[in-house]
Amino acid sequence: MPLLLLTGSARRTAKNWRALRAYAGLVVGLLFFTGCRGVQSAVDPAGPQALRISKLWWTMLIVCSAVFIIVLAVLLYSVFRAHRRNRVADEPGTEQRLTRTISGAVLVTVVILFGLLIASALTGRALSSQPEQDVLTIEVVGHQWWWEVQYDDPLPVRTLKTANEIHIPTGQVVMLKLTSHDVIHSFWAPNLHGKKDLIPGHVALIWIQADRPGVYRGQCAEFCGAQHAHMAFLVVAESPERFADWYEKQLKPAASPADAALSHGQQVFLTSRCVMCHTIRGTTAAAISGPDLTHLASRGTLAAGTLPNTPDHLGGWVVNSQVAKPGNHMPPNELSPEDLQSLVSYLESLH
Ligand code: CUA
Repeated sequence: MPLLLLTGSARRTAKNWRALRAYAGLVVGLLFFTGCRGVQSAVDPAGPQALRISKLWWTMLIVCSAVFIIVLAVLLYSVFRAHRRNRVADEPGTEQRLTRTISGAVLVTVVILFGLLIASALTGRALSSQPEQDVLTIEVVGHQWWWEVQYDDPLPVRTLKTANEIHIPTGQVVMLKLTSHDVIHSFWAPNLHGKKDLIPGHVALIWIQADRPGVYRGQCAEFCGAQHAHMAFLVVAESPERFADWYEKQLKPAASPADAALSHGQQVFLTSRCVMCHTIRGTTAAAISGPDLTHLASRGTLAAGTLPNTPDHLGGWVVNSQVAKPGNHMPPNELSPEDLQSLVSYLESLH
């Protein structure tokens, strides 16, 4: 559209210019307000890895934009010049001058492309460098369509399993061991790092570090089936003290039911087919094919970022999760309204 307006330059009027300016403003404004800054953004880096990618991106954008503008300016100049002097080719020495100009342009192009290639290779090298300091290690396993998150610790009793929300301490290197349970997924939290594939039978290592607290949304970035788009996660970066608090709370088994209604809810859970897929530590439910629910109520979302974690959404999800996320592996459940109410109250008490 802007190009069309530009090429129609002979008949350009003040009106065209105003339209062009408004259009450019709209595009820049949309970029600014929709995708480029905020909760999930590659140009709003929150740590050293994303900063490297962001610097490379800006370098390429600025260099390529400058080249584009120069080429366009030379093209327009040539068109106008040829228009004014129709017999340029007949002048003596024109061919030599053209050869020199084109050779120079080719040389500059090659130099610029090599420069970008080197910048890209150096960024790739820096991204894959391994940190020397002691690090927190988290295993992330992709499932159709959720994220299993396990914190490693030399003491087995201090390892921790959760799902879809990854808490990390700020200012510290966090090593991620990425693999998949079924098909290829891709881990992408753009504020912290680039994309990395999760491949079945293979462990990929990347490290991230968040320099400021925040909740950074991430998304599966490799098509992995019907609900690929509903495979999000959150990285919650918080101060080392708050992280340690969170970790100690998560290590505890689930709270015992505080009253008769919650106790009934727990019985509904333990006597239904919920236990065939889920774990609630501190109870007899110990299956591992679905997300660990020990501290379900401490998480902000359900179904890998698909729904807010509220009693209404949780109830709807338990009754028939196929409505919100068709094709997912959780079957519908027939429960009486009383049993459902108790079950949801029990699950929402698992802080
Ligand atoms: Cu997992 Cu796309």
